[in-house]
Amino acid sequence: MKSEHLLALIGLVLAVLVVAGCAGAKTTRKAADKRGLAYGTAIQPGDILWPESAQLLAQDFNTLVPENVMKWGLLRPTKTFWNWSDLDKMVDFAEKNGMKMRGHTFVWHSQNPPYVNSLKTRDEAIALMTEQITEVMTRYKGRIAEYDVANEVVADNGTMRDTVWLKAIGSDYLDIAFRTARAADPAAKLILNDYSNEYAGDVKADAFYNLAKDLKERGVPIDGVGFQLHIEAQWPVRKDALVANIRRFAELGLAVSFTEVDVRIKMPVTPEKEAEQVRAYRDLLDAALGEPNVKSFILWGYTDKQSWVPSFFGGYGSALIYDTELKPKAAYRAILQRLLAK
Ligand code: XIL
Repeated sequence: MKSEHLLALIGLVLAVLVVAGCAGAKTTRKAADKRGLAYGTAIQPGDILWPESAQLLAQDFNTLVPENVMKWGLLRPTKTFWNWSDLDKMVDFAEKNGMKMRGHTFVWHSQNPPYVNSLKTRDEAIALMTEQITEVMTRYKGRIAEYDVANEVVADNGTMRDTVWLKAIGSDYLDIAFRTARAADPAAKLILNDYSNEYAGDVKADAFYNLAKDLKERGVPIDGVGFQLHIEAQWPVRKDALVANIRRFAELGLAVSFTEVDVRIKMPVTPEKEAEQVRAYRDLLDAALGEPNVKSFILWGYTDKQSWVPSFFGGYGSALIYDTELKPKAAYRAILQRLLAK
């Protein structure tokens, strides 16, 4: 080959690489990777089976969380029957695509089977809870990066929620759950997750903070806290209170994960309401990116085609960042832009 041809060829190859590199950097996934941010979504079993959604997930997110299939009632509907197949497929899919997994959730008051809800004695409850945590975390050891070990344990008035776990085991049930989880997979990050816990100064948020602080100071193996962040577009994000809260957890040595972000709109959608939604998503992401101890920004679903919002919040909808046809919405573009910003 003549040297000028060789040079031209090298030039062409370089140009293709540069273009491909730039195009590649323009996905939310690549941009989040660059920032070391776990950027993800909750998924349902079908999401990884349909080629269109599977491709979108692998392209745009680096983290996945099972929206329901790890919950006790679905994973283990009777004491002896474990329904692993959907969860196994999700973990395989994440692994094949180089994505992280979050686990959700063990100790909760909701979506439990009858044999959990009817637990009475401390010994029985401890045996079952530790068995559940150990079984799941051993099966996926090293493959699930972070778990919501406990979910929604604080009531809205700031007291401990009166659950089957509190009643049957007593006030040390979280100690037992976190210690069991640490023993089962020492590398996994262990999170205490809740809602309405994001703003310093709110009654529930302060109680949640005091609980996490007490656990941490007593040496219970907790790595971080989760803010669910199911919020409403019409209520602006109170950034000062959010950041103040994140920082007080940082001072305790605790990470903060944004675990279930969605921003619901009172239907019908108008351009004004959509602008409020965009602002809310942007403000949340901005707060996350500004604080070094926030490691994850996870959406509670990605497409408005399947979101829990319309059935749980009457009159609300359009909470996610892709529309019912999987087309990116304005909120998606705001997220991408903020992730790419210098
Ligand atoms: C919701 C799911 O999205 C629904 O599909 C299911 O019917 C009920 O649970 N907080 C949580 C999540 O921690 O597990 C909930 O998920 C939403 C509120």
